[in-house]
Amino acid sequence: MNIVGINAYHGDSSACLIKDGVVVAAVEEERFTRIKHWAGLPLKAIVYCLEEGGLKATDIDCFSVNINPNASIAKKIGYVLTGGIALESLVKKVKDREKKVNLLEDLKRGLNLENHDVEIEFVDHHIAHLYSSLITTSHEETLFACIDGFGDFKSAIWGFSRGFEIEIDKTIYFPHSLGIFYQAVTQFIGFNSYGDEYKVMGLAPYGRYNYPEEMAELVSVNEEGEFRLDTSYFTHTTKDFKYTWKGGKPDVSSLYSKRMLDLMGENRSEKEELTQRHKDIAHSAQKKYEEVFLGIVNSLYKKYGASHLCLSGGCAMNSVANGKVRENTKIKSVTIQPAAGDAGGSVGAAYYTYVKSANKKLLVDTPYLGPRFTMEQIETLLSTHKSELIADLCEIELLMDDQLIKSVVSGLLEGKVVGWFQGRMEWGPRALGNRSILADPRRTDMKDILNSKIKRRESFRPFAPSILREHVSDWFDQDDDVPYMMKVYKIRESKRADIPAVTHVDGTGRLQTVSKEMNEKYYKLIQAFYEKTSVPILLNTSFNENEPIVCTPKQALDCFLRTKMDILVLENYIVRRP
Ligand SMILES: [Fe+2]
Repeated sequence: MNIVGINAYHGDSSACLIKDGVVVAAVEEERFTRIKHWAGLPLKAIVYCLEEGGLKATDIDCFSVNINPNASIAKKIGYVLTGGIALESLVKKVKDREKKVNLLEDLKRGLNLENHDVEIEFVDHHIAHLYSSLITTSHEETLFACIDGFGDFKSAIWGFSRGFEIEIDKTIYFPHSLGIFYQAVTQFIGFNSYGDEYKVMGLAPYGRYNYPEEMAELVSVNEEGEFRLDTSYFTHTTKDFKYTWKGGKPDVSSLYSKRMLDLMGENRSEKEELTQRHKDIAHSAQKKYEEVFLGIVNSLYKKYGASHLCLSGGCAMNSVANGKVRENTKIKSVTIQPAAGDAGGSVGAAYYTYVKSANKKLLVDTPYLGPRFTMEQIETLLSTHKSELIADLCEIELLMDDQLIKSVVSGLLEGKVVGWFQGRMEWGPRALGNRSILADPRRTDMKDILNSKIKRRESFRPFAPSILREHVSDWFDQDDDVPYMMKVYKIRESKRADIPAVTHVDGTGRLQTVSKEMNEKYYKLIQAFYEKTSVPILLNTSFNENEPIVCTPKQALDCFLRTKMDILVLENYIVRRP
């Protein structure tokens, strides 16, 4: 059976393919359209998945989608009758629903399947989130929490699952949402692009907990973790609120109301300087999120007693909060799939459909589910651009793995910035050693070098460490697997000065643990760096320059030529600037 999973007409549109019980491919549409968080129909992603699986569109048995237009209907009607939502908003929701119902026609048209019989299954949004995390754990029994902005009129479910028996303990319905709370504060601080929440997370450690009462006004919570927003501080129930994706770019109108300004003072505009007040607001919002989130986890543990937890939904991207679970609850291990947000819903929906028909467990234990390219393709690319590279005084060499690693390490030791491109592209928003920019974490000036040469991002944002798995406990205060960079842990105090470029202001790092089994070439590279420096860590940031992560060798080369990157590795080719 060939199932194509889809997240469509929503931010981080994506597709995946389960072919005969194997997740063959998964990819976000933004990597092809080159528009961050692209929303719309993921046709290019579907075409790629089919190619990877050696299939034609006519081989698709079923589309599985991570929304269900018929979900929560009674709740929706009830909410409208109580006057909780503006009529205009309701009309828009009905139109959105129609669009979702027409999805099969759109897919058939886009893939030339008009005369072909193919089924479509609509999976409740949060069930798709849940299945997207269940597919990445081998635990038979697990607690789960799926928390996001909204989907199918809900913003969270949590509970317990044993095999495929799922017990939902609590559901949070519209208009209450932790995702909306965090997004509104993100906008309030002047980060207005879709998906900017991680900036608040990065800014928070610079602030103090100076707004506890204000945060408690915005979000209240009971003993069982059920939370509520005071909607008078928000706009998402009013007619003014808009979520659009013109040309594929998702755009969310202002989520905070005038009343929030009365509560917390002036909002910040995008260009305005960041002051201590903004940092304190970021800190307070992060703290509030953690308090509610950890409350949910603790209440789950109290009820079911299981010590493993699966997290999913956009809020599961809050790696700082995720990193606090083991320290603040009785949970021993936490699984979060690489695309924890809505992109991951495509895998979750497809897995749900698969389980229904096959009743079998699948396990995905790799993030490398995207496009790959051959040496021939890279050779052709480099020869096409040879004159440009020579004019730039670049040297091009083809090396065996060992020589390549040696050469890259000596570049890193000289303070060079390396674009590292190999194998299949990562699934999810984190670069995990196949589309990464790498640098020496020991240098105090490396953050500035990276920002001046390539990234040009806000100076408060930290860079991440990739660390050999067996060295984690020597460098971090938790000994844990973090293969997809989804948790932030404290770096041991004695080690912080050794790796200043990846140590955040509060002494933490958003680590990626690297094992030989998961990524042998990347593992060997870090190991070679370790042999020279006694530091088993590299600075790893995504291979891009204010755009979606590069997918093709051509995009990697363009990024190299556009920026001041020193070294570019394309599989076994190495290109060096003088
Ligand atoms: Fe979601």
